[in-house]
Amino acid sequence: MKMGEMLYEGKAKKIFKTDKENEVIVYYKDDATAFNGLKKGTIINKGIMNNKITNFFFDLLGKQGIPHHIIKELSDREVLVKKVQIIPIEVVTRNIVAGSLSKNLGIPEGEKLASTVVELYYKNDEVGDPPINYYHAKAMKLATQEQIDTMEKYALKINEILSAYLAERGILLVDFKLEFGLYEGQVILADEITPDTCRLWDSKTMEKMDKDRFRRDLGNVEEAYQEVLKRLIG
Ligand code: TMP
Ligand code: ASP
Repeated sequence: MKMGEMLYEGKAKKIFKTDKENEVIVYYKDDATAFNGLKKGTIINKGIMNNKITNFFFDLLGKQGIPHHIIKELSDREVLVKKVQIIPIEVVTRNIVAGSLSKNLGIPEGEKLASTVVELYYKNDEVGDPPINYYHAKAMKLATQEQIDTMEKYALKINEILSAYLAERGILLVDFKLEFGLYEGQVILADEITPDTCRLWDSKTMEKMDKDRFRRDLGNVEEAYQEVLKRLIG
């Protein structure tokens, strides 16, 4: 597969054209940002680890009926994917209170939620990805109610699959963010599932194994990502 011109550069990835109209190459960078780009840094080999972790998770989810955009891993940092039209809604699923939920509702981090929470955010860096509800999504024509229902259904199923898989490897899936795209009219899972986009805590020590180590200057960031990869793939 030949890499063509760059179509887009995001905070953590670049997207390149291929010789096929409906396929693109994702290139994972080591760049790390937090707080909507206010904090910038590098996590050595993050691109390699996140490419591997995403490809592993998407393959696991695909085998259990979740449609997704990944076609084939091409190299350490590159993966061939279906070219989707990204739905500008970030879907966050939460099992344990952390991050913005803790801050906004005044509940201490680490409290187990009585039931799973699914939240929608408007994917737009210019306004800092604000929370939205069905009314905003409909009024702004971001997605149809049917597409939102599909995204939420997939998010809950993904939560079950990944929570169980990670639990067996001593990791608590605290919360995670998903993005979906439209391909041939269907909603499919896109973007990434990595320690950048999930909160992962060691089940025994409750130690953070995700991007909160970078966001909160906790140190040992690379080591945490490496440990996640090791527990997943060995
Ligand atoms: P939050 O508690 O900051 O709202 O984050 C919830 C989850 O979403 C957490 O697992 C981190 C992930 N996330 C992203 O992937 N991208 C973002 O821009 C933000 C703010 C959170
Ligand atoms: N992805 C967001 C940023 O780059 C925020 C985050 O992950 O904390 O700034």
